[in-house]
Amino acid sequence: MAEENTNPEPSRRNFLNWFLNTSGGAFLLAVFYPVSRYLIPPEAAESSTGSVTLALKPDDVKANTGQIFKFANRPAILVRTAGGELRAFSAVCTHLSCTVQYRGDIGHIWCACHNGHFDLNGQNIAGPPPRPLDAFVVNVRSNQIVVSRSA
Ligand code: FES
Repeated sequence: MAEENTNPEPSRRNFLNWFLNTSGGAFLLAVFYPVSRYLIPPEAAESSTGSVTLALKPDDVKANTGQIFKFANRPAILVRTAGGELRAFSAVCTHLSCTVQYRGDIGHIWCACHNGHFDLNGQNIAGPPPRPLDAFVVNVRSNQIVVSRSA
């Protein structure tokens, strides 16, 4: 004759132990996983792209204007000077990494975050930016704009 389990306590205890252990584990996982993801960011997919061909055509960029584009996953700025020359720089401000923009009214590159100014060679000329913008090389080949790292 099979012996019946008349004492439900052990299975209830087992269930409670299992429940508390898994809940505790789930709680710890829910807390520490996001914290670890924040503290240890994923490998940046830093592109080794040495050059990029822009979707813009040379005639799309009017004199005394600037256009933001992406270069190796970071913002960059293409400027056509009032004299018609195309120049490109990193658009990441060297102060606190805001994205700079071209201001036709003052004829140079400007960072709105803390009023940083860069001339058309990328040199920091006013405000808090501590160093120039990284400059890129611009080539126009068969009606396409190709921007490359300088060295
Ligand atoms: S981030 Fe550009 S001036 Fe401060």
